[in-house]
Formats: sequence, structure tokens, C-alpha cells
Amino acid sequence: MSKAKSSRDRRIAPPGITRVTRSSINPQDSQRTKPTDSGLVDDLSLMSVSEQQASLARSVPRGALETIGRLVKLGRVRNIVVVAGAGISTASGIPDFRTPGTGLYANLAKYDIPYPEAIFNIDYFSDNPHPFFSLAKELYPGHHRPNYVHYFIRMLHQKGLLLRMYTQNIDGLEKLCGIPDDKLVEAHGSFATAACHLCYTPYPAEEAKQAIMNGNVPICTFCAGAVKPNVVFFGEDLPEKYFQHAEDFPKADLLMIMGTSLKIEPFASLVNTVKSTVPRLLLNRNPVGPFERRPLRRADYMELGDLSDSVRKLAEILGWHTEIQDLMNSHENGLCSYIDPSNSSGENSDSSETDSMH
Ligand code: OAD
Repeated sequence: MSKAKSSRDRRIAPPGITRVTRSSINPQDSQRTKPTDSGLVDDLSLMSVSEQQASLARSVPRGALETIGRLVKLGRVRNIVVVAGAGISTASGIPDFRTPGTGLYANLAKYDIPYPEAIFNIDYFSDNPHPFFSLAKELYPGHHRPNYVHYFIRMLHQKGLLLRMYTQNIDGLEKLCGIPDDKLVEAHGSFATAACHLCYTPYPAEEAKQAIMNGNVPICTFCAGAVKPNVVFFGEDLPEKYFQHAEDFPKADLLMIMGTSLKIEPFASLVNTVKSTVPRLLLNRNPVGPFERRPLRRADYMELGDLSDSVRKLAEILGWHTEIQDLMNSHENGLCSYIDPSNSSGENSDSSETDSMH
């Protein structure tokens, strides 16, 4: 596991945030009175690109998806950063973590742990790795397929618009749908590699998996510590690749935040590192992070509801829906013959098939 730059970059669970439930878009939109698409009062030629985007976004009262779709169609957006969490995979049949009732943390009683997040706590794991290993049998990638949301993000890449996707997910579905490695930052690690949790000596991932599946604890040949997949636990460093954010976020001209509660640092604070004029679109069931505050930042937009529905609406606005469906169908047909449920690492090798206009 790579070393973090500072202790701030270790995963911590911040205190809970009071939720405000509201089903609306940027409230400032309703106060905007410009009557037509062409009725731009601001002189775009005098503005920076990000100011132009904000101005275009403000010019006409409209929904969040229409506004963002318009920016994309006008070619005002070329470097999209996607920030994602467990909500993008619920349509694939994988529960998220914190939704009351259905989330993983509400369903850990059988593991007899002191508090739900202990299952991903490195100190707890050091004392007792068995609860995580029992859960890991279910979490190992291979039993689930990417859904429409994953393919929408892949389409952003194919259209040459995806600067980077930052995901907290460990289900491997981003790679499986064909988002290439160089476009993807798995900020909370993955099951693709394994190492000793004490001395970080690498361990063959497939051997670790076999041991875990057989109910054994894989042991480091160097220090005899327990080996674990390189999923980032609370108290552990984030992967080196995560620090790419320092270059990516200042370059972003649109931030899309999807299916995350933004409760876990340092990841959650990434969304605050784009320029204040850069549009941020939240697609989620409920407002989270900076979208819980009122008033919203001028360039903040949200579409609340089911993520698959919202993403599909956005795809329709962009005229991409059929293309995404075709991509999904052809890719999934290939995956059906590729995935062997008895020996699936969740990885596939066809990410090179993605077309990029870059
Ligand atoms: P959470 O479970 O905290 O948040 C998921 C968010 O997605 C919630 O706000 C849900 O309301 C929303 N959501 C779920 N399904 C949705 C749907 N179909 N449509 C729209 N919104 C939906 O998950 P994360 O934010 O990803 O660590 O959690 C962050 C980290 O906490 C995870 O990486 C995990 C956990 O500790 C590890 O994996 C080790």
C-alpha cells in the first residue's frame, strides 16, 4: 500500500451531518428571468471559460439536467471529473453502505462487531480479521454486472470528455464496464491486489482470495502478519494514484457527483477543490455534502431521485441514450461469456477496446 502524504489523507469517518431533504434543482434558477436560450446578457468574450460556463448555466431557468446537458452540447465542457460512491452500483444489486435498512452497515449483525465501520477498521482487523474475511467472500468482485450509470461514465470517456473518474467503490464495476485504468482512480483501493496489513509486502491476490474463500487467513511470508486485499481501511493510507487529484480538480470544467453520501474524508472534500465557478452536478437520492447548505453555490446543480433515472434523462438530453444501450448490450454480451463466476476477479481485459476522441 502506498504511503499517504499526510495523516489528513488517511480515511476517517467524520461526524454525522444533519440532512436537509428537498427535491429541487438549484434554487437560484427560479429567480433567473432571461427568456430565451439566446438571450445572454453577459458578454462571453470578456469572460474566462469557467465564467462563461457559469453565465451560460445561469442564463435561462431550467432543470439541472437540461442546464448541464446544454453546457455539454455547446462544447463548453471538455474535462469532466466524476466523483462516485456506492449509489452508482445499487442498480447492479450491490447495497450501498449507509441507506437505512438496506445499506451494508445496517446488515452486519451476524458479524458481531462493536460498531458497523469496525469491519473496515485497520486496528480492529489487526485484532480480529475474521469478520472482514467473512464479508469479503461476498464483496469479492465477480457476481455483479455494471449498470447503465457505469456505461454512461464510459460514454463520457468515449466522447473524449472524461478527465478522470474518482470512485470510492471496491466492486470493480468501473473497470469491468471498460473505463480504462488511466481514467480511473480507485480511491479506496480494490481487490485486484493484496498485501500484508503490517509490513505491506505484496502477496499474490489470487492466493489471498483462495485462502479467504476457504475460510483461512492468508499469512505474510515475511512478517507473519495477516494479508488482506488492498481495500483501504479506516486508518490506512490512500493509494498513490489518489493524489492525482491535485492536478485533476483544478483542470475540471464540470464535476459530476454521483451516488455518494460524501461522509468519508479525505475523499469527501475533493468536491470542494474545483474552482468556485465550475459547475457541480449532484445526482443522488438526497442532498449531500455542500449540497445540504442553503443557498447553494451559484454553479451547483442537483437532480434528486434514482440515479439510473437521472442518468438516463441526462443521456436522452445529450442524445446518447441509444448509443449507451448499444454499448451496454454489446459489452455485456461479451462479459457473459467472459465472466466465470467460480473464478472471477472482477477484472476484464478489454478496456483497450474503448474509443477515445482525445
Ligand atoms: P454511502 O452508502 O455512504 O452513500 C451512498 C449514497 O448514494 C447515499 O446518499 C444514497 O442515498 C445514495 N444512493 C444509493 N442508491 C442510490 C440510487 N439508486 N439512486 C440515487 N442515489 C442512491 O456510500 P459511499 O458514499 O460510497 O468504504 O461510502 C463511502 C465509503 O464509506 C465507502 O467507500 C466505504 C464506506 O466505509 C469502503 O468501501 C471500505
